[in-house]
Amino acid sequence: MSIATVDVRVPAFDAPYAPRPIGGNLTGRHIVSVEQFARGDLDDLFRRAANLRSRVRAGDKTVLKLCQRRIMATLFFEASTRTDMSFQAAMLRLGGEVIATSGGVQFSSVYKGENLADTVSAVGCYADVIVLRHPEVRSSYEAARQLDLLGARLGTHPVVVSGGDGIGEHPTQALLDLFTIIDFKHEADDLTITLVGDLVNGRTVHSLVKLLALYGARDLRLELVSPASLRAPATVIDFVRSRGVEVNERETLDAVIGRSDVIYWTRVQQERFADEAEYLAIADRFVMTPDVLARAPDDAILMHPLPRRHEMGTETDHAVLDADGRAVYFHQMQNGMYVRMALLAGVLGAAG
Ligand code: NCD
Repeated sequence: MSIATVDVRVPAFDAPYAPRPIGGNLTGRHIVSVEQFARGDLDDLFRRAANLRSRVRAGDKTVLKLCQRRIMATLFFEASTRTDMSFQAAMLRLGGEVIATSGGVQFSSVYKGENLADTVSAVGCYADVIVLRHPEVRSSYEAARQLDLLGARLGTHPVVVSGGDGIGEHPTQALLDLFTIIDFKHEADDLTITLVGDLVNGRTVHSLVKLLALYGARDLRLELVSPASLRAPATVIDFVRSRGVEVNERETLDAVIGRSDVIYWTRVQQERFADEAEYLAIADRFVMTPDVLARAPDDAILMHPLPRRHEMGTETDHAVLDADGRAVYFHQMQNGMYVRMALLAGVLGAAG
């Protein structure tokens, strides 16, 4: 049985749940939306991630004590390589343990018809932190609500970290994306950030542009480039504009590629299209190739949350792009592990 073909959908999660702001202390917080983070929380998290990166690279064994005897469970109801494995690697590098259903999530009781609430409650009985990826928007909110109820019953405090909820948000991807932008550009001020592709279904874009607005960078310009049918949701754009960020929506790259400091390319999310013809009509509208990158400034950076397909050209194009110093998606990927280390240590109350 393949995960992709099994329907784990349930009615939209609309029970009221307001995630708590981080408010200067990650301990015990569920992480379900970038909206929980303020500038100070982000500066603190990034400082911790950079510190962990230096310590891991220096072979500092004390890092392995930070989450000793703590357990992280993974529940991934959608395909994943980077998010799943970087979380696992992060927990192992912190000295913690990782559990998952033997044989994969398709052997979890969800596939016997159990609802998400019961599955999450079961896993919350065993693990200190659950990383959840699920196709339904706000599924992580529902998980957080259930874990609060469970914790009150059991006197424990398991937390959930979203690994992406359908076309909603992907908060930890946005955290690692912003960390990477600051890593390469030293700050997030006075930048033109161009986001290209499937901006309606791309949850990484929703989270990243909101996070950029919450970070409060000065003189930030967001150029959103997509086919008309794949424009970013109005709620996301309104959120960003209401925080004073300049946002322009475009259907071509020509006017902006030459003045972009950050180019954030995305995959057209084929699995989210009900109509194959609709997908095929726009699948090749924006393809990053070495010729396109040649039009970008010498000090631009090219990001992509990955996985990539034809939107980054052929495999030959991939190789040429990868060899270009402006392509930073492998750094982005590795940063993901360090940012997730900082986040896991934070929510589990592991100082240091
Ligand atoms: C992204 C996702 O799952 O939203 N991948 C990731 O987590 N790195 C982007 C995508 O699937 O295109």
